[in-house]
Amino acid sequence: MQTNTIGIVSAMAEELAALQAQLEHSHTVTLAGRQFHWGQLGGQSVCLVLCGIGKVAAASTATLLLGHFGVAGIVFTGVAGGLAEQVNIGDVVVANALLQHDMNAEPLFPRWEIPLTGIGRFVADAHWHQALWAATTHVLAEQPVRTLAGRSLSARAYAGLVISGDQFVASAHASSALRCDLPDALAVEMEGAALAQVCHDWGKPCAVLRTISDRADDDAAVDFPLFLREVAAVYARDIVLRFLWREAPKLVGNQG
Ligand code: ADE
Repeated sequence: MQTNTIGIVSAMAEELAALQAQLEHSHTVTLAGRQFHWGQLGGQSVCLVLCGIGKVAAASTATLLLGHFGVAGIVFTGVAGGLAEQVNIGDVVVANALLQHDMNAEPLFPRWEIPLTGIGRFVADAHWHQALWAATTHVLAEQPVRTLAGRSLSARAYAGLVISGDQFVASAHASSALRCDLPDALAVEMEGAALAQVCHDWGKPCAVLRTISDRADDDAAVDFPLFLREVAAVYARDIVLRFLWREAPKLVGNQG
């Protein structure tokens, strides 16, 4: 059990690769079909892992990191569809709360509540959220614009509600239904709230970072590999490195 190690979970291989390229003194452990890459990053002891897609993949990955490997907390990076009007492609959202939008055990339990827990919204750990937010705003101030296929994307940072479900939201109809039901949701993705539920069960902090790859509408199927390589993986790498280097020592002490 390495209790000061930080688990870094990437949703997509491009993001993991960008971080793995910087990993020092690394070794890999394979468990439950996943490769856990241990090493030093930004002066901290970390364990990098690719999550897979969807809530079960996220819950399984988080359970292994916390229950088997005993990490101190988890940072998740990935992409999301923008829901709130102001959240555009290229922006970065740091979740201050997470909710499973496809959880509905009505009329036995209130809409969105995880049955028998009394919880619908998992509030992010204040210290970890603040630390990831500080790293995000620092990196975006340094790199406010990225280029994608000849187009300039200027990025802004937002903090707020991120919602998760086992559904890639790719129609104006589906995204406006979510906006109508959950007007304060900034972005929609497929893992964050499941990870937050597992971290809550284990009493461990997590923080979730999402780069907006689409607007969850009929044009949502952008060129994902290109977006991941040119925008999301770069922000995820630079923000996580800044988080580990400047913020994580305040959370778990310096492991370097
Ligand atoms: N991840 C990135 N874009 C998404 C979308 N539109 N729906 C769900 N997850 C996503």
